[in-house]
Amino acid sequence: MTHIEVEGLTKTFGDTVALEDVSFEVPEGEFVIVLGVSGSGKSTLLRSMSGLLSTTEGQIRIDGEPMREPRPEIAMIFQQHNIIGDMTAYSNALSGGVHRSGFLSSVLQFQDEEEKYRALEALETVGLLEESEQKARRMSGGQQQRVGIARALVQRPNVLLADEPVASLDPGSAQDVMKYLREASKDRGLTTFCSLHQVNIARKFGQRFIGLRDGHKVFDGYREELTIDAIDEIYGDIDTDGMFVSGRDARGEPTEEVAKP
Ligand SMILES: Nc1ncnc2c1ncn2[C@@H]1O[C@H](COP(=O)(O)OP(=O)(O)OP(=O)(O)O)[C@@H](O)[C@H]1O
Ligand SMILES: [Mg+2]
Repeated sequence: MTHIEVEGLTKTFGDTVALEDVSFEVPEGEFVIVLGVSGSGKSTLLRSMSGLLSTTEGQIRIDGEPMREPRPEIAMIFQQHNIIGDMTAYSNALSGGVHRSGFLSSVLQFQDEEEKYRALEALETVGLLEESEQKARRMSGGQQQRVGIARALVQRPNVLLADEPVASLDPGSAQDVMKYLREASKDRGLTTFCSLHQVNIARKFGQRFIGLRDGHKVFDGYREELTIDAIDEIYGDIDTDGMFVSGRDARGEPTEEVAKP
């Protein structure tokens, strides 16, 4: 069970206030999407929750225990899926167990059978079991990102933090990656935070949404509450057209232009 509490979280970098007095509570197993324009504080929030950043004020508690440093049960997936191109999908996935087996045995692949099984199981979860022996650099961006998810799963986390995992992908691959992320999270009951730019992909896969604007939490609610007004509140006067997958509106419905014969 992994229940997360963020209370009065403020993070400053010199004179820049990246997050100010952000509070929320997320029960075990929820799939939360963090929305906000560039610079609104999404990465700062996820990195604080992963323990990679210290807080300036406030507290983050995981199952009631204050978060102070990175912990193996919290796995982070990055936008620049830091996958090693010369290694196979399988070896990349296996390296997720590095904190348990040690770096050397990870590189030399001295893992026990259970660990190897776990890597293959994780690749199956992201639909890449058949590609397990393929070199990562020969895979598409979407497949590489799925290898990144598999590697995070091998870590056996209770919490997944994904910072714009689909930012550099085309709409089709982005939806694919989100589908696998959502399924992995659901199957394993992982409390998941994912930051996204594409609002309609967010609506399609998210359960709960946290909207940040200038470091403040301006929205916190479930899918039916994420109305056009709420999206305006998060994005302000910014033209949000580019944030929707082309031909889809904020509800993920085809726009008129596309619906025309
Ligand atoms: N290490 C840092 N040093 C100084 N300022 C930082 C640092 N990290 C973030 N900031 C500042 O904090 C604010 C929030 O940044 P953050 O990266 O969290 O935004 P974001 O919502 O993730 O943006 P993007 O969508 O571009 O990834 C920005 O003003 C940013 O310039
Ligand atoms: Mg960011």
